[in-house]
Amino acid sequence: MRPAVHHRGPVGEGVLTAAHHVAAGGGSPAARCEDIELEELARAVGTPAYVYSATHIRDQYRRLASALAGARHRIHYSVKANSSLAVLSLLRELGAGVDIVSGGELARALRAGYTGSDVVFSGVGKTEEELRAALAADVLLFNVESEAELRQLDRIAHAMGRMAPVALRVNPEVTVDTPHPYTRTGERGMKFGIPYDEALDVARRAVRMPGVSLRGVDMHIGSQVTVLDPYEEGIGRLLELVSALRALGCADLEFLDVGGGLAVTYDDEAPTNPEAFAATIVPQAVTSGLTLIVEPGRYLVGNAGILLTRVLYRKRSGGREYVITDAGMNDLLRPSHYQAYHHISAVRPSGSSATYDVVGPVCESGDFFALNRTMDAVVEGDLLMVHSAGAYGFVMASNYNSRPRPPEVLVDGDRYAIIRERETFDDLVRHERTTPQWSRV
Ligand SMILES: Cc1ncc(COP(=O)(O)O)c(C=O)c1O
Repeated sequence: MRPAVHHRGPVGEGVLTAAHHVAAGGGSPAARCEDIELEELARAVGTPAYVYSATHIRDQYRRLASALAGARHRIHYSVKANSSLAVLSLLRELGAGVDIVSGGELARALRAGYTGSDVVFSGVGKTEEELRAALAADVLLFNVESEAELRQLDRIAHAMGRMAPVALRVNPEVTVDTPHPYTRTGERGMKFGIPYDEALDVARRAVRMPGVSLRGVDMHIGSQVTVLDPYEEGIGRLLELVSALRALGCADLEFLDVGGGLAVTYDDEAPTNPEAFAATIVPQAVTSGLTLIVEPGRYLVGNAGILLTRVLYRKRSGGREYVITDAGMNDLLRPSHYQAYHHISAVRPSGSSATYDVVGPVCESGDFFALNRTMDAVVEGDLLMVHSAGAYGFVMASNYNSRPRPPEVLVDGDRYAIIRERETFDDLVRHERTTPQWSRV
C-alpha cells in the first residue's frame, strides 16, 4: 500500500508527516499529501492553508485500537486537538467516542453525529449551562475535577430528575516530563483534578449524593508525554483508590479513564509507541475489571496535518536571515506559545540549505515558526510546509491583526475537500456593530 506518510529521521519512527516527497516528472522532487500535489493544491485553495491526511488519521486510530485490543476499552478522541466537524465525523466512522471540554465541543460532537453515550465531559470549569446541556444529552461520563463541581452537578441533575454518571478526575501527583510546563497537568498543586489525598473523602461524599452515580476514576497527566512510567505510576494510584472505594461497598465502578497525552514526533524525539503504551496499561486495566478509556488527541491528528504557507519576502537584519511567510502566529500559535519545534521544509526543495528565522507577518516579535533553523534554502514565492500541525493548530488560530483564519483541507487518496472555508473580511466583523445599540439595565 502507498504510504500516507513520509518517514524520515534517525530516531524512533522518524518524522511522520502528512506529506511525502515523490519524484515529479524528472524535475526536483515535489511534496504531496497522499496523492495530491501540494503545489497544485496551493493553487486551488490558496495559502496559508491547513492540509490533513485522512489516511494518516485512520492508520493512527487503527493502530491504537488494535494495540488496546487485550482490554475492554473505549477510545474517546480529545476534540480540543482538532475540532473540525469532518475530522470528528471521520473518527466517528472508525468507532471513536469523544472527550470534550466545553459546551461548544459538545455541540460540535453532536453535529458530527455522535450521541451522548459517545461523550465523556472533562474540564476544570464547567458552567451550569454546560452541565445542563450535557445532562440533557445523556453523556456517558462527567469527569469531575473538584468537590465544588460535584455539588453543582448533583444539584442540577437532581433538579432535572437525572442521575449524572461521574468519574472523579484525580490528580495522581506524578512527575511528568513534557517539552513545556504548560502541557503538564498531573503534578502536585496543579489546577487540574482532585488532589490525591482528598479523593477518597470526595468519593465518600459522592456516593451519598442523590443526583450523581460514581462510575469511575480518571486522570490526565499531560500532553506530548514520551515516557510510560508516569502512566504506570498514575494508574497504580488510581487503582489504589478503586480498591479503597470497593472496600467501602462502592460496587458501580465501571470506568478507568487514563486520559490522553500520547506523544508524536515533531523533531527527533522518540514517540510513544501504542504497543508499548498498551503493554503498560492493558494489564492494569484487565486486573481492575474496569473498562479502559483513553483520550488521545495529538496522537491521532498531530502528524496528520501540515500548514502550507508561501514565502512572501526574504530579508536580512543584524546578521540574521529572515524568511517571511504568509502564515503567522495567529494561524499556528505553538512555536510562539510553547516554544514548540515544527519541522519546516520546502514543497519543492532546491537541494541546498541555509539558516533562517522563519517568521510571519503579525506585528509581534513573538511571531515566528523557527529561529536560527537550518533548512531548505528558499526564495520568494516558494511554498513551505510547517509539519506536524494537525493538533493544536487551527483550533488555536485567531483573528489577531484582523487576519482571516485559513481554510482546512482534508485529503483522502487522490481527492481533497475544503472542510472549512477560508474566512472573509465579512466574517471578521460579522458579530460587530459600528454604531453601538445602547441599552440600560
Ligand atoms: C482531559 C484531557 N484529555 C485528553 C487530552 C488530550 O491530550 P493529547 O492531545 O496530548 O492526547 C487533553 C489535552 O490537554 C485533556 O486536557
